[in-house]
Amino acid sequence: MIRFSFLKSGDRQRSQQRPSGAEEPLQNRSLRGQIMANSGQKVVLITGCSSGIGLRIAVTLARDEKKRYHVIATMRDLKKKDKLVEAAGDAYGKTLMLLPLDVCSDESVRQCIDNVKDRHIDILINNAGVGLLGPLESISIEEMKRVFETNFFGVVRMIKEVMPDMKKRRSGHIVVMSSVMGLQGVVFNDVYTASKFAMEGFCESMAVQLMKFNIRLSMIEPGPVHTEFETKMMEDVAKMEYPGADADTVRYFKDVYLPSSIDIFEAMGQTPEDIANCTKKVIESNSPRFRNLTNSLYTPIVALKYADETGGLSVNTFYNLLFNFGPLMHITMSILKCLTCSCLRRRTISPN
Ligand SMILES: NC(=O)c1ccc[n+]([C@@H]2O[C@H](COP(=O)([O-])OP(=O)(O)OC[C@H]3O[C@@H](n4cnc5c(N)ncnc54)[C@H](OP(=O)(O)O)[C@@H]3O)[C@@H](O)[C@H]2O)c1
Repeated sequence: MIRFSFLKSGDRQRSQQRPSGAEEPLQNRSLRGQIMANSGQKVVLITGCSSGIGLRIAVTLARDEKKRYHVIATMRDLKKKDKLVEAAGDAYGKTLMLLPLDVCSDESVRQCIDNVKDRHIDILINNAGVGLLGPLESISIEEMKRVFETNFFGVVRMIKEVMPDMKKRRSGHIVVMSSVMGLQGVVFNDVYTASKFAMEGFCESMAVQLMKFNIRLSMIEPGPVHTEFETKMMEDVAKMEYPGADADTVRYFKDVYLPSSIDIFEAMGQTPEDIANCTKKVIESNSPRFRNLTNSLYTPIVALKYADETGGLSVNTFYNLLFNFGPLMHITMSILKCLTCSCLRRRTISPN
């Protein structure tokens, strides 16, 4: 049995005040981490479970028919737990518990992992992330640092905290939610893309060392997914005035890029359930792949990069797609669908 003992001093007092024999509400115990994993269950810790992909992965694993997972769903603000708790249903308090965790804080990360019994985590899923979109001239260096602090250093912080125990045990699986934007640059997503590229480079390097300790490392690389991520970004974009950017750049961003981006989301978007199913497949595989594209429509785009090491093919293709064929985006999408023949599809991880 693996026991979690996350008990704050205030909670300790409250539990002492309870009349003896009175059953503490299950909900409180789940929040404090007192729920125990059964032997044989894998302990999975997931970051960023208040919404979107993280929430869905937590629920999918906690509701596993064979109850193979004990899920520690974390979020930086537990006041946002209601959506997750509702989606988890009766798994909450049984195979799913909650802990607070801000991936940008050393202290929060340490405290969270310290409160897991023996710091024993079998599978770490680094999902928390933030987006950033718009002309570079109008984005402050502080905003850019926030993206790196979450998307890159957040993952590094988590791995540093969890890896030593996995090394000792000579077992573990680290999963990182990357993106196709970790493989291919996308105009006006410059800094977000850079943060995912940084993580891909970090993981590619770490994977070799970790293999020696029998620790697996896998990246999930979704294309567009319909979550609050997209909504939050579009809301931010609508509010922005783009100070510092010239009129032409703002026009390309608003009138050319944004409509194309909306088209792409409509034509290619997956659901958080799709990504959760792909992630479950990856952690259940006997020989999980290092890279896992979830959307076969992206394989030709990624292939362009490897087909021409000078980079010309991908830069020119993206230029043409955006500025010359933008109004024909729907046709372009259909061509892409034809291009994704079955041999390319086999290279992706299918949600079905
Ligand atoms: N949606 C897409 O199109 C797409 C495509 C490819 C990859 N991804 C990646 O998928 C991951 C999840 O994104 P999503 O689409 O599910 O977006 P989402 O719904 O916005 O979820 C992001 C989650 O990360 C959390 N988070 C942000 N900063 C955090 C921090 N400092 N500490 C802990 N948690 C933090 C958010 O918590 P709060 O509620 O507290 O903000 C939220 O729970 C991200 O890494 C993203 O880069 C998304």
